[in-house]
Amino acid sequence: MTATRAAVLVESGRPAPYAASRPLEIAELRLDPPGHGELLVRIGAAGLCHSDLSVINGSRPRPLPMALGHEAAGEVVETGPGTEFAPGDHVVLAFVPACGHCERCVAGRPALCGPGAQANGAGTLLGGGRRFRAPDGTRPHHHLGVSAFSEYTVVSSRSAVRIDRDLPFDVAALFGCAVLTGAGAALHSAAVSPGDTVAVFGLGGVGLSAVLAAKAAGASTVLAVDVVASKRDLAGRLGARPVAGGPDAVEAIRDLTSGGAEKVIDTTGVVAVLEQAYAATRPGGTTVTVGLPAPGAPLTLPALSLVAEERTLRGSYLGSCVPRRDVPASSPCTATAPFPWTPSSAAACPSTRSTRASTASTPARPSASSSPSPERTASGEDVSGEELLEVGLEGLVAGAQIGARPVGGQQ
Ligand SMILES: NC(=O)c1ccc[n+]([C@@H]2O[C@H](COP(=O)([O-])OP(=O)(O)OC[C@H]3O[C@@H](n4cnc5c(N)ncnc54)[C@H](O)[C@@H]3O)[C@@H](O)[C@H]2O)c1
Ligand SMILES: [Zn+2]
Ligand SMILES: [Zn+2]
Repeated sequence: MTATRAAVLVESGRPAPYAASRPLEIAELRLDPPGHGELLVRIGAAGLCHSDLSVINGSRPRPLPMALGHEAAGEVVETGPGTEFAPGDHVVLAFVPACGHCERCVAGRPALCGPGAQANGAGTLLGGGRRFRAPDGTRPHHHLGVSAFSEYTVVSSRSAVRIDRDLPFDVAALFGCAVLTGAGAALHSAAVSPGDTVAVFGLGGVGLSAVLAAKAAGASTVLAVDVVASKRDLAGRLGARPVAGGPDAVEAIRDLTSGGAEKVIDTTGVVAVLEQAYAATRPGGTTVTVGLPAPGAPLTLPALSLVAEERTLRGSYLGSCVPRRDVPASSPCTATAPFPWTPSSAAACPSTRSTRASTASTPARPSASSSPSPERTASGEDVSGEELLEVGLEGLVAGAQIGARPVGGQQ
């Protein structure tokens, strides 16, 4: 049994501000040892995703009490039998455990794993059951198989992806949800290609990841839409063109793209914004929706336009990613595939890392001299691929209000 402190949601739907209604309680819990195919993980860092807030406000109903948090990275401290992990491994935890055997897993779509979805809905681990114990004997539920707002957690090894030990936990944590979801929406679901015009609605962790991936995929224009000016400013620093959110955004995008963007991604979770995203897509284009509105919220679209304008409207869960393929491929220096963070050359990685270390609180400054394939930011500065990576990750960590934060105080 391992003792752990965890943030447990006991009741959803308490009124904001949460600083007053305090829906989460820090509980002293115990964890059963990892069972077959399971891992005990010390959480190194966890991010706050809007989907955590949706459980807290009740728009994503989940069984309670639940130890929340689903975007994390950490270190394996103990393994149950039947895993390919070892103590000391660093892992990212993905929020859909993939059984590897069901029809959808076999078809290469682990984000839609049937047993994974069933376990997530029931608040259990993939193998069934719960590993947390409260002092009163009750067993808090697991959030999406991860429960990251805890010093320690037990997960199915099918939720874990081994990563390079050099990748800082606060960066790695973002790959568990925001990066896979946002970058996957751009690269897999929207299939952004060189020269595409792209618009992204919503600039939280998911939307900023979509912006960065669209840039990395060679989009000619990336329009970044949000109602919050500071988020638009950050997207501008990442090379996007800011557009103010609201009903006028559609007209602004049409003007800037000669009639609508080819690929439009909505990450707001607001149905009215999805309708705007559809309207801002040009005929023949693709609208991708990533946001998770309340389950009963209806969507109204001009149905004829789907046919007569050959439009595509696609949903995207976990960015249609394969975490075991895409997380390592996304990590600096571990990959050859440009998904989406691969620096412009592998040789650039060590210097990229040392830049990170020396600029922990200050985003890297662009420098044309080390820029083999310069990009131009909204402020007119040249940024190389590796610097885009650098600024992007710093921006995601620092600016997206997802704020991946160290848990437990030790690396
Ligand atoms: N599909 C998936 O697999 C998946 C995974 C993770 C998160 N999500 C969902 O994706 C959404 C985004 O998650 P996040 O953590 O980035 O959220 P977030 O709250 O950090 O970001 C949402 C952004 O939308 C902006 N916004 C709100 N109203 C707007 C408007 N009218 N016009 C323009 N922008 C507006 C907000 O200002 C905010 O910056 C949430 O709905 C979340 O539940 C889906
Ligand atoms: Zn999430
Ligand atoms: Zn499966």
